[in-house]
Amino acid sequence: MANFWSEIQSDLSHIISKHLYRKPYPIANLDFCSNDYLGLSKHPELLQAMHQNLDQLGAGSTAARLVRGHRTEIDDFEAEFSQFIHSEDSLFVANGFIANMGLIDTIADSQTYVFTDRLNHASILDGIRISGAKKKYFHHLDCNHLEEQLEKLEASPSEKSKRKIIVSETLFSMDGDSPNLKKLLFLKQKYSCVLVLDEAHALGVYGPEGKGKIFSELTESEIKEIDFRVYTLGKAFGLEGGMISTTRLGKEYLTNRMRSFIYSTAPLPLIPASGRISLQLVRRADKERKHLHLISQTLRTGLKEIGCELTNTESHIIPILFRDEEETLTFSRKLKDMGFDVRAIRPPTVPSPRLRISLNSGITEEQIAYFLKICRDLKQKI
Ligand SMILES: Cc1ncc(COP(=O)(O)O)c(C=O)c1O
Repeated sequence: MANFWSEIQSDLSHIISKHLYRKPYPIANLDFCSNDYLGLSKHPELLQAMHQNLDQLGAGSTAARLVRGHRTEIDDFEAEFSQFIHSEDSLFVANGFIANMGLIDTIADSQTYVFTDRLNHASILDGIRISGAKKKYFHHLDCNHLEEQLEKLEASPSEKSKRKIIVSETLFSMDGDSPNLKKLLFLKQKYSCVLVLDEAHALGVYGPEGKGKIFSELTESEIKEIDFRVYTLGKAFGLEGGMISTTRLGKEYLTNRMRSFIYSTAPLPLIPASGRISLQLVRRADKERKHLHLISQTLRTGLKEIGCELTNTESHIIPILFRDEEETLTFSRKLKDMGFDVRAIRPPTVPSPRLRISLNSGITEEQIAYFLKICRDLKQKI
């Protein structure tokens, strides 16, 4: 045992020496880093609904969905959400991580090929890992590289008939950029793949009524071709919870096979009940979305003008890239001292260190202008 604890200590010392040490610290200052994109986590209507739902429905769900944890509130929310994003059906689960991991583990096995964007979220990569599937990375957003790999598989008589899954985020959480959804759909059809798209950061922010990125890029009939869509309530919905939207058959299969759904206590009943209120607030938030896109554009342009290196973002997720971890941490601490909450994101979460700025609709144009001024001053000093 002595060996075990000294190994743990030495690994932590290594993390510290590389400026990669992490610990949660309390929220402070002006929020430039959360995923509460529409500010719904503190919306009075949502809070009131949660209080009422807590009183009516109680605290814990007391059991797994297939035992006594199920409630009509979950059915109602799944139905309303499915209608909102034009899906035949949806399965509500504890969070987006469980949704991705459980879904991929269920639909892939050791004979399956899963083609994954290199920068996909950990929950997707962990799903692939636990399923035992053959993982094929393609370069970030690079559909040509994806097609090269699909073609290679097609040329192999023994492998071409195996199940193939393509999985991608629609708006990358740490880069703020997006894949060409039409091209992904084309490749899915051309090579007979299953397509999984994760709309975690796009839901509520893009598309009519915040229906998501796929609604701004694809036609109705194209959307129907997507096999599985993954959503989280933990971001623009201001709550927590995950949703897998698919066909009725898809849902039936997941209900019977998805281990993290079957063997886990159902979410608090107040969550799906309150999710319906979040959904209504999201639909009504056109003004907030417009403002969010406007301040995002101002900040992206302003940061580039003062010489900050950004990713290829065109969204409200605006990462500033730095030389190394130390410089990133220094910048984030200085911003914190000036009243802004912006966090340094470092490997292994991302390949290179960055400040991940993510804006929300509560930020004013004046605050963006002040933030830009501070960044300009800091850049001159560093
Ligand atoms: C792209 C993506 N998918 C899924 C998740 C997991 O969602 P949740 O936070 O609800 O577990 C995240 C979380 O950050 C994410 O960024």
